[in-house]
Amino acid sequence: MLTAADVAALRAHSARLATQPLTAVIANDPARAQAFALRVGPLYASFARQRYDRIAVDALFALAERADLPAAIRALFDGTPVNITEGRAALHTALRSNLSTTPPARDAHTAARTTRIRMAQVVATLHASRVTDIVSVGIGGSDLGPRLVVDALRAPDHGRMRVHFLSNVDGAAAQRVLAGLDPARTAAVLISKSFGTQETLLNGAIVRDWLDDNDRLYAVSANVERAEAFGIDPERILPMWDWVGGRYSLWSAVGLPVALALGMDRFEALLAGAAEMDAHVVATLPRRNLAVWHALTAVWNRNALEASTQAVLAYDERLKLLPAYLQQLVMESLGKSVRDDGTPVVVQTVPVWWGGAGTDAQHSYFQALHQGTQIVPADFIGVVHGDDPYRDNHHALLAHLLAQTEALANGKGSDDPHRAYPGNRPSTLLLLDALTPQALGTLIAFYEHSVYLQSVLWGINAFDQFGVELGKQVADRLLPAVRGEAVDIDDPVTSALLDEIHSRLL
Ligand code: F6P
Repeated sequence: MLTAADVAALRAHSARLATQPLTAVIANDPARAQAFALRVGPLYASFARQRYDRIAVDALFALAERADLPAAIRALFDGTPVNITEGRAALHTALRSNLSTTPPARDAHTAARTTRIRMAQVVATLHASRVTDIVSVGIGGSDLGPRLVVDALRAPDHGRMRVHFLSNVDGAAAQRVLAGLDPARTAAVLISKSFGTQETLLNGAIVRDWLDDNDRLYAVSANVERAEAFGIDPERILPMWDWVGGRYSLWSAVGLPVALALGMDRFEALLAGAAEMDAHVVATLPRRNLAVWHALTAVWNRNALEASTQAVLAYDERLKLLPAYLQQLVMESLGKSVRDDGTPVVVQTVPVWWGGAGTDAQHSYFQALHQGTQIVPADFIGVVHGDDPYRDNHHALLAHLLAQTEALANGKGSDDPHRAYPGNRPSTLLLLDALTPQALGTLIAFYEHSVYLQSVLWGINAFDQFGVELGKQVADRLLPAVRGEAVDIDDPVTSALLDEIHSRLL
């Protein structure tokens, strides 16, 4: 776990490099472009434009060695209760890989395979039926992963099934999703590990009543009893387990909307891509390990360069939901200020992750990335082979991707300070050969592993999320007051706000 002294040592390296811009560091190390790049299956990553040199990288790998990252990776795969605050394993790897012989990992892998057989039956049944539309009801980890993958990989005309995602408790979301759908040709899947999430229960009830036929109502949950009580036939409930965190659950039956939209074969291919990354991460020494490089780079940017935000910029329209997905994965996992043993952290943990899709983002906030006062490290993601028929557009897209990373790093001088580009702005470039299910699985699993390794380096638990509970409890307490019931409100500001709302209600 990183200590204050470790951070001071990393800062000494960044101070040493302060007078050497990236252009100089790169020019002084002719083999850097190759030495700072790695490939795993369809994913190529270049760290050559990060603001460290080989000496600083050696210091980072020394930290990795002290943290014994290989042992931490083994513990994850073996089903050790790495989620120590809740006493649970985090066996998402067992959903797609069979890389551990421990009983918990083997049992998890068997349960996952058995569940996929049931998923395949559901897909076959619905594909053979009159159903043309699926409404997927869930939120957070029960929504963002399937939503990303369906949006990224669906056919331009949607193919056999259109999948619609309903997450927000705002009734306008339900109204918009259901408008234009025919209940007789629609099935719904309620996805909730707990089956106790307010948003999903409220939206689920709207959809259940609108459907008016529970034969087309499915659920994915670790709480079968609650799903049954909601009116879902146990035959149509697929399991989830305590040993999978919501934001790591795409690979389980939570991926049912993916399988319905793309077919079971492509869902299996997504898992195979993730398994390829698992095999790499578990078997590769830190120096050649892609997830370790990414995690150490995150630590460098946060703790040595003190960057408070991190951008993720997808140069592929189909990956435009990736930033939203990663926000939950990274910030719900690493947004912690207490270490595993309950003591406060002494170093900064997760920065704010944000981003969007290129080239749209270039015409929005890139001004600040190039000339703003804050340094924003960025992950740029590109896809080499485009699948659309518009080659000129694809070439332009790739040119912009390369241009932005080069311009941010190299900058450009000018006598006019308004027209000068300081450069020295760090980025990682991730290139997928093509946007196949395998490649997307590899990319997502890569981020999962990097997040876990960052948590190990910072000494925090990546698998709990107590921070989201308080707001839910307060909302439950305030709900009767919003409805207009007589309730004592202690907080004077909330009380005044409630008065304002009630005075305006028509
Ligand atoms: O509020 C956060 C959270 O607990 C996430 O971690 C989770 O993915 C989401 O809510 C949905 O939870 P559930 O699947 O139990 O409905």
